[in-house]
Amino acid sequence: MNAPKTALPDAQTVTKVTHWTDTLFSFRVTRPRSLRFRSGEFVMLGLLGENGKPLLRAYSIASPAWDDELEFYSIKVPDGPLTSRLQHIKPGEEIILRTKPTGTLVLDALLPGKRLWLFATGTGIAPFASLIRDPETYERYDEVVLMHTCREQAELEYGRQLVDSLEDDPLIGEFVEGKLRYYPTTTQEDGPLTGRVTDNLTSGKVFEDLGIAPIDPAQDRGMICGSIGFNADMKAILEGWGLREGANSAPAEYVVERAFVG
Ligand code: A2P
Repeated sequence: MNAPKTALPDAQTVTKVTHWTDTLFSFRVTRPRSLRFRSGEFVMLGLLGENGKPLLRAYSIASPAWDDELEFYSIKVPDGPLTSRLQHIKPGEEIILRTKPTGTLVLDALLPGKRLWLFATGTGIAPFASLIRDPETYERYDEVVLMHTCREQAELEYGRQLVDSLEDDPLIGEFVEGKLRYYPTTTQEDGPLTGRVTDNLTSGKVFEDLGIAPIDPAQDRGMICGSIGFNADMKAILEGWGLREGANSAPAEYVVERAFVG
C-alpha cells in the first residue's frame, strides 16, 4: 500500500482497480480539488517513464462531474508503453494526471434536441459512462439511447453493470428512470443482441427492437466514440440521414471522437 511517492505535483492516488477481462480494466483515482470538467471530456494521464519523464495518454473521464473521485476505463495493450505497466497499478499507488480537460463529446457541442444517441465500440463507452451519470443529460433530452458493440459478451460487462446500477442509484436514479435505453451487441459471440452498431442502424433493427422512431435530424442528436473505421462509418451514416458534425464553437447535430488506446 505504501508505494513510494513520486513527488510530482500532478500525482493522484489510485483508490480502486477492477479487471473486467484479460484486455480491459477500470480504475479510480483521487480527484484534484482544482479539476472541473464537463461530462464527456478527456485528460492526459500516465506514469513516470523509464527515462524519468511522464509517459502520458489521453483518457476519457468515465465518472460524472459530481463524483469525488475520477474513474477511467482502459484497454491493456501487451506491448503498449503505458498500458502494459498501467494495468498492474494497485490501490495506494500513484499515477500522473494533467488537469486540463478537453474534448468534443460534450452536451454543449450539440444543438438542443429530443433524443440523444451514444454510439460506442470497445473502450469508446468511457465518455458515455460519464454522460449517462450526469443529470444534465436527462434535463436536456427526453430519451437517451446507448448503443455499444464489442466482440464478446465479457467486454460489455463494464457498461452493462453500470447501466444496471443506475436506476437504483440514490443520486442519479430519478433522472435516469425510464429515459435511458441500452442496446448492447456482440459481433463475435452469440448473445441476446448481435451485430455492429452500424448494421443495426442501417437495417432499422435497433428502431424495431426498441420500438422507437428512426433517426430524424430535427430531433435526434448523436455522439460517436470508437475506432477510426467505426467513427468514419458512423459519420457517413449520420450525414446520410441529414445530421451535421458539431463542435464546441459551432454546435450541430452530432459529434465524434476517437476512443483512445495506449
Ligand atoms: P467486428 O467484430 O464485426 O469487426 P475492434 O476490437 O476491432 O476495435 O472492434 C470492436 C467492435 O467494434 C467489434 O464488435 C467490431 O465488430 C466493431 N467494429 C469494428 N470496426 C467497425 C466499423 N467500421 N463499423 C462498425 N463496427 C465496427
